[in-house]
Amino acid sequence: MCGIFAYLNYLVPKDRKTIVDTLVSGLARLEYRGYDSAGMAVDGDDSEEVFIFKQVGKVGALRKFLAERQIDFEKQFVSHCGMAHTRWATHGEPSQNNSHPHRSDAKGEFTVVHNGIITNYKELKTVLEKKGYVFESDTDTECVAKLAKYLYDTQNPNQNLSFTALVKGVIKELEGAFALIFKSTHFPNEMVATRRGSPLLVGVKTEKKLKVDFVDVEFGTDEKVPDGNLLSPTDGLPKLRRSQSRAFLSEDGLPQPIEFYLASDPSAIVEHTKRVLYLEDDDIGHISEGELHIHRLRRDDGISAVRSIQTLEIELAAIMKGSFDHFMQKEIYEQPESVVNTMRGRVNFESHKVTLGGLKAYLATIRRCRRIVFCACGTSYHSCVATRAIFEELTEIPVSVELASDFLDRKTPIFRDDVCVFVSQSGETADTILALRYCLERGALCLGITNTVGSSISRETHCGVHINAGPEIGVASTKAYTSQFIALVMMAIQLSEDRSSMTQRRNDIIDELHKLPDYIKQVLSIDKELQKLAKEVLYKEKSLLIMGRGFQNATCLEGALKIKEVSYMHSEGILAGELKHGPLALIDENMPVILIMTKDSLYPKVQSALQQVTARKGQPIIICNDGDEGISGQYKTIRVPQTVDCLQGLITIIPLQLLSYHLAVLHGVDVDFPRNLAKSVTVE
Ligand code: F6R
Repeated sequence: MCGIFAYLNYLVPKDRKTIVDTLVSGLARLEYRGYDSAGMAVDGDDSEEVFIFKQVGKVGALRKFLAERQIDFEKQFVSHCGMAHTRWATHGEPSQNNSHPHRSDAKGEFTVVHNGIITNYKELKTVLEKKGYVFESDTDTECVAKLAKYLYDTQNPNQNLSFTALVKGVIKELEGAFALIFKSTHFPNEMVATRRGSPLLVGVKTEKKLKVDFVDVEFGTDEKVPDGNLLSPTDGLPKLRRSQSRAFLSEDGLPQPIEFYLASDPSAIVEHTKRVLYLEDDDIGHISEGELHIHRLRRDDGISAVRSIQTLEIELAAIMKGSFDHFMQKEIYEQPESVVNTMRGRVNFESHKVTLGGLKAYLATIRRCRRIVFCACGTSYHSCVATRAIFEELTEIPVSVELASDFLDRKTPIFRDDVCVFVSQSGETADTILALRYCLERGALCLGITNTVGSSISRETHCGVHINAGPEIGVASTKAYTSQFIALVMMAIQLSEDRSSMTQRRNDIIDELHKLPDYIKQVLSIDKELQKLAKEVLYKEKSLLIMGRGFQNATCLEGALKIKEVSYMHSEGILAGELKHGPLALIDENMPVILIMTKDSLYPKVQSALQQVTARKGQPIIICNDGDEGISGQYKTIRVPQTVDCLQGLITIIPLQLLSYHLAVLHGVDVDFPRNLAKSVTVE
């Protein structure tokens, strides 16, 4: 959803222009998470002052606004802390007032950026309003900034409350999901970052070698955490002993110049440093005097006390557009490579063996389970629909496929001998994470299939598979879909390796997986034809039905989702077997239809769907296999290479991705940032 970013330089002199540019470029990398507005907070001309800049719209609008501002961009700061935010509106319309950062008061004693949703904000707001606070926005976030000020003013009689203790007091009062960063004029050049349910990581850049490669959790502090006493009248948190940990001292023990970057995801950090650590729920990271200390909200919660520094594996080039016009286009074109990366080191094409290291220790348990439950949202859900049949065929284990939100709404019964597979590109989708926690509570074995190392789903599941598709920036998911599809097929193959009756089937699939990059390249080579089709046939239409059956059900659903989300054209995936049970009423000579009619065992049944459509004067465009002579010249066709039935959907989806891309461009849609959407849906 929203993207948050912060930059802190300690003993690394920077002028205001450089600091502002660093914040803006961090936001630009996070823009795909939300683009309703953008804003930042940096120090003013004296330590009591904070400058907050905000603009409705994309980061470009903020950049332009800053370029036109009369402020001293030359002003030097030896140490400084700045924060920024790009918004996907949840509470309150996209407007200047509702843009982040939010402040505690006109002076900006406390400024806050936030990703997530504070579910009890109304109650907090009511209490704070009674205490005289006047709110300037409709957001849930503003009450966090005001609560910080309230605690600072009322629970700090000796003026010695630390920033950390204050933030502990604040988050004790919060319900819901959040990643929060705090800045304060009372604590110059310090920053506190905390999370619960929304991702947040810290990048560390320093010239000198660090003495430690991990950060101890500080177990506590001698001071009492203020008890806000707003909504939960408890007696404050226990008095804890002072921390012994000294993180980020250089080897020679002297204070060292150091820079910290905090962000919702690594794409904003990788151009500065690859050394990062991920905050866990209820971690409170405090950066001050060039050191980062991580505190826990409660020391007795049983969470491991060490956060190690990890090395990011993504390259900067992977998050840049290169010669493509849009990320979506680049990502569609990356698929011949991304599918190879998903299989690399896992599929042995000579011995016909698949080895997914992450599942090895759990294979026996999975094979013994009573059923497998796939759980996901949107495109990730479609990858589950696409692979369910081959999973059941190879493993002979019943598989159910669940939309995470509906799964939770129904309070679906889950048992200890169930295996639940959570598929998520981002690994941060709130509905999927909640479904995962629901299954963990019920004792099921939980597997994650994600594209994001270090994401909540990859950390909270027992085991899993990383799809290695590389960063996906375009809001419409393309290469992640094909890689998720392959990851699930590989999993099914590995699980069935003890079943000799399936050897031939497995070998056929593995042989065809080997040819997949070439097949995809062949489809990409007809891109110009697809562009023409979009322009000459589909562009002016209001609606588009996509039909198919069996292994192509998922392609219909996913193709229609792509068309809807990027071209804003109504589109519906229709399972051809259901045609005569209702959707046929929509068909006439004016209704655009794409029919997927590839050569598999259901071909004759799809032929009868074609007849049903043409009998009602429908003129479908047919996606069929190269060399299929049965389809007469009266139809427009999109011809794609033929592969084994269960992998055919990996090929038929490519023309639909390209068509949706071209329709979006023709409609003048900002392809990578379609309206009302965000890449990572971290709210329910
Ligand atoms: C559509 C799309 C969404 C996501 C869905 C789940 O193009 O990208 O439907 O698939 O929001 O997101 P992840 O996979 O991150 O859990």
